[in-house]
Parts: sequence; C-alpha cells; structure tokens
Amino acid sequence: MNKQFTNSAYLSYKSNENQTLFVLKHPLFSATISEFGGQLLNFEPIDSQPLVWLSNSAKLDCSKPIRGGAPICWPWFGPAPTHFEGEPQHGYARNLSWQLESLTESEEQVNLVLTPKLPEPLNEKLQLALKLEYTFNKAAEITLSTTNVGNHAFELSAAIHTYLNIPSSPDTEIPDLLNCVYMDKLTNSIEQQSEPFQLNQAMDRIYHYQDANLEVVNKNTKVQITNDGHDSIVVWNPWKQGSEAMVDFDDNGYLSMLCVESALTRGYSLMPGNTHKLKQKLCFKR
Ligand code: BG6
Repeated sequence: MNKQFTNSAYLSYKSNENQTLFVLKHPLFSATISEFGGQLLNFEPIDSQPLVWLSNSAKLDCSKPIRGGAPICWPWFGPAPTHFEGEPQHGYARNLSWQLESLTESEEQVNLVLTPKLPEPLNEKLQLALKLEYTFNKAAEITLSTTNVGNHAFELSAAIHTYLNIPSSPDTEIPDLLNCVYMDKLTNSIEQQSEPFQLNQAMDRIYHYQDANLEVVNKNTKVQITNDGHDSIVVWNPWKQGSEAMVDFDDNGYLSMLCVESALTRGYSLMPGNTHKLKQKLCFKR
C-alpha cells in the first residue's frame, strides 16, 4: 500500500523478509525505518549522500538486531545489568516489533511516532512506557522518551547507537572530544583524550561528554550532531579483526562507518511518573 500526502510526500510500506519497512520520500529527504527495532535504516537529505551506514550483510529477517542505521539501546546500554542477567546486550528495543502511531507532514518536515509492541510479561516487569519520535527535514532528529509508569525508581541506561556513514580514516576527527575523559572499554581504564582524536584502530569508548553539540569532520564531510538528555557519547569502531568476527558486518565495513552514540550510561534513576528524553539530531554541515 502506498500513501501519498498533500505536500507530495510518499509513505510506502515495503514487505521485507518477516517485517515491513516504512519508506518515506519527501522533497527534502528520503528515509527508511524498519518495523523491527523501530530503527532508522537510511536517511538521505536531498542532494547529499546517506547520513547513516547500513551493513551490506545486515540481517533484516528479525533473527537479530539490524547492523547499521540508528539502533536503539534500551532500557540498558551494553551487557544486561545483574537483575536482568541473561537478557540481551543493549536491551530489548532493537529486538521488538514497533508500530507506527502517527505521521504528520508539511512542506517543511515529516514527523513520525512509533511505539514498541512489548510482550505483556515484559511490560509488567519493566513498568515503562516507551515512545520513539522521528522528525525529518534536511536533518534527522530522533527522540526516545521513557516514562516510568510504575511505583519504583528504574535505573535507566540507553543509547541512540548511530552508525555514521563516514570513512574511518586518520583524517576523520571529532575535535570537540579533545581533553574529554573517557572509559576505554577495550582496556577497561579511564583515560583522557589528550591528543586530537584519531581513527586508526579499534575503538570502544564512553566519553563523559555532556555538551549539546559535537562535530565529526574529515576533508570531504562535516556531520553536525546535537544531543540532549545524554550524559555521554559512545564512539565505536570494531576495526578489521572485529568486523571479520561478526557475521552481519562486511569484512571491510569498518572503513566506511563510525558509531557516534548519544547515550545515558552513567547512572540515571527514573522516578515514578517521570519521563526521560534522549535526543540526537544529525545533519551534514556545509
Ligand atoms: C557499542 C558498545 O555501543 O556497541 C560495544 O560500546 C559493542 O561494546 C557495540 O561491541 C556493538 O554491539 P552489538 O551488540 O550491536 O554487537
């Protein structure tokens, strides 16, 4: 079924393996969101290259989280906390089916709201309401809202785990990270970015970066990232050995991506009745 909107935007529903992809065409951009994971898979501003990277070997059949785009890590980031032992890395959101709740559009932008289909036992256990909102124009803005609908505080962590479509070469820099303290997950140590950030090796770092703005630059591209509700920025690239070890990662894929994730990783108690919003906005800067 294709749906055309008044301002010449099109939404088409494309069946793909076991799920539906929501494909949007608008004069300012094109975008694809998967029902599985509720995840942005492609965003291409008009007259630009794709902003996010999707692995050519990504599994789209719902058998595992989709490798690329902007997966959602929720309600934890990384391995499951002790009281959820045995549950999936990066939480449930990227393994759930999501439904499209609303779509509003104009000549300036399109806004979509999705909610996850949480199985009842999980719903009961978590007592959290989750909503994902996308606003697209020449930029893509992703907002993850979590509301505590229970009676107890919930220790929340989360990330918008964006795979940027940017070459991983030594000239790719994140100048704003200079002097920032980070947790190096590869060496399990706390370090400081005392030299300019250089991308020439495997990297898995949680930067204690709370500013709103961050730029990722190289000689051909500049990506502007605006964050809100975060307490850290995660930077991940598996490099050659890591790429080869993953079935859904092209062997040379590490050369054309860099994960820059807006994240909440450092301990956040979501109190009953409260809502937390984690936001990431991405655009090319000229
Ligand atoms: C990053 C983590 O956010 O995601 C890494 O910091 C992890 O430790 C990476 O390896 C990919 O995770 P996954 O579960 O998608 O393979």
